[in-house]
Amino acid sequence: MPSYDKFFWGAAASAYQVEGGIDNDWSEAGFDAGKAAGHYNRFEEDFDLAKSLGHNVHRFSIEWSRIEPEEGKFSQKEIEHYQKVIDALRERRMEPFVTLWHFTNPVWFSKIGGWKNKNAAQYFERYVDFAARNLKEVKFWLTVNEPLVYAKNAYFSGIWPPGKQSFFDLFSVIAHFVNAHRLSYEKIHQHILGARVGIAKNNIYFDEEKSWHWLKRIAEYWWNEYFLNKISKHQDFIGLNYYFHKHIEGLKFSPEKAHSVSDLGWGIFPEGLYFVLRELKKYQKPIYITENGLADAKDEKRSQFIKDHIFWMKKAMAEGIDVQGYFHWSLLDNFEWDKGFKPRFGLVEVDYKILSRKIRPSAYDYKKIIEQS
Ligand code: BGC
Repeated sequence: MPSYDKFFWGAAASAYQVEGGIDNDWSEAGFDAGKAAGHYNRFEEDFDLAKSLGHNVHRFSIEWSRIEPEEGKFSQKEIEHYQKVIDALRERRMEPFVTLWHFTNPVWFSKIGGWKNKNAAQYFERYVDFAARNLKEVKFWLTVNEPLVYAKNAYFSGIWPPGKQSFFDLFSVIAHFVNAHRLSYEKIHQHILGARVGIAKNNIYFDEEKSWHWLKRIAEYWWNEYFLNKISKHQDFIGLNYYFHKHIEGLKFSPEKAHSVSDLGWGIFPEGLYFVLRELKKYQKPIYITENGLADAKDEKRSQFIKDHIFWMKKAMAEGIDVQGYFHWSLLDNFEWDKGFKPRFGLVEVDYKILSRKIRPSAYDYKKIIEQS
């Protein structure tokens, strides 16, 4: 195993958002990513770009629906594909961070109730068992990406498939994710000596007008802490996805204090990263910032966004918070779930017609920060 005394700098992505050619519960529900960024056949070229931009790590996800297209039937061909992806990273001296689940499910799994199924965690564990047995050279694993974001959007507000709106479902799905993570954690450790396992957790910085402190605490507890508390004995590191803050005044949660907004109207509030990192200190685990980024088609705000977030990350580190890596979201423009292809999150621009790539200026500014660090 290589040594990990260096800080990881890189970018993150997920299978359905970039690969293309995937049939899963999203495509079935009409949110079809089609050929996406064509990354499935272009991963080597994309990793060359990442390497040329100074990255020494890359976070990507493997697609459950490719690996287990029918219940209990695992695809040797697809796992070999991901072995090649991992080899391609290693050849470029980039560390692979593998996410096992990033919002998408095989169609057969959604047909039996998806994450509501009482045995959801066990179905997931069986897939994880196959993946970990076959990808033993991977050290860093993220079992699930943002389980609360998914549970909220898919089972409460209903904007993502399967489009449910039920409090009861919301809580049972979250419980199944807790269980799925714990089982997967054990499974990966059974197969891989020295593996490091965590999740990617979306945390928000809630700032408040003083009199609303009690509400801030409730919001922090449910959104930022609850899930991490539940898995505290089953994680080797914390993966933090930080995008924005919410300002609390009364029952209004808004991006009011933001310095400016992204193309999606999300408030940009870099110091929130510092406060969110401080909140994580109590877990006494290494932290990787597994996602941080913005939709900015014109690339007007991305350089400053990266610079400012890294400034606040370093301030937290100077105060003793053990941050060991930063992954920008994302390497390439990609399929942004219910919002389609319009939002542009990439350090690298993708022309979806011909699938060509063009490095954005901010990617070079990020490279400079990496080189100076
Ligand atoms: C998700 C990504 C998504 C990004 C921007 C994160 O919550 O993990 O899949 O593209 O946010 O919305």
